Amino acid sequence: MEFNEVITNRYSCKDFTDKQIDEHQLNEILEAGRIAPTAKNFQEQKIYVIQSKEYLDKIDHCTPCRYHAPTVLVVAYDKNHVFNYPGDKRNSGIEDASIVATHMLLAAYNAGVDSCWINFFDPEQLAKELNLPKNEEILMMMDLGYGKAKPLANHFSRKEIKETVQYL
Ligand SMILES: Cc1cc2nc3c(=O)[nH]c(=O)nc-3n(C[C@H](O)[C@H](O)[C@H](O)COP(=O)(O)O)c2cc1C
Repeated sequence: MEFNEVITNRYSCKDFTDKQIDEHQLNEILEAGRIAPTAKNFQEQKIYVIQSKEYLDKIDHCTPCRYHAPTVLVVAYDKNHVFNYPGDKRNSGIEDASIVATHMLLAAYNAGVDSCWINFFDPEQLAKELNLPKNEEILMMMDLGYGKAKPLANHFSRKEIKETVQYL
């Protein structure tokens, strides 16, 4: 798919069919995350693929936003392997994991898979449900599947460039 078509037409899907996504589509999505850039190339992301009923139920305990998606990715990062910027005021963990997640979100649409970025959950509760190691911080969850829902109105509502961009 043409790049502009992907970034324009990708939308947050809030209702999915039961049909599981194809393995080759999932692999394409995971590959897009693998090749994402990270600060100092530390690649501290950790991606969990959730498809079993047992684990989808755990997701449903933590968020109302699965929308019946048959696959959910949990994107985390190893907080012991982030790049700490000089001055120690910030580190690369959130940005790196966000870039990985964004690559996968766009790759999903390109592969014919609908998605939704989910932040509406308590990361500590989710880490406990999934029994993640203490060094991993969860950034987001990503619903993946074939959409039944069309884009919501807010997909078509974006501020003008002049409202968010300033030339200095
Ligand atoms: C960082 C982030 C967090 C989001 N969290 C949620 C969420 O928890 N639940 C949900 O239903 N949608 C969530 N969304 C989807 C947004 O509501 C949606 O992206 C936004 O309204 C724009 O619509 P569009 O993605 O269809 O263009 C999230 C999106 C982003 C970028």
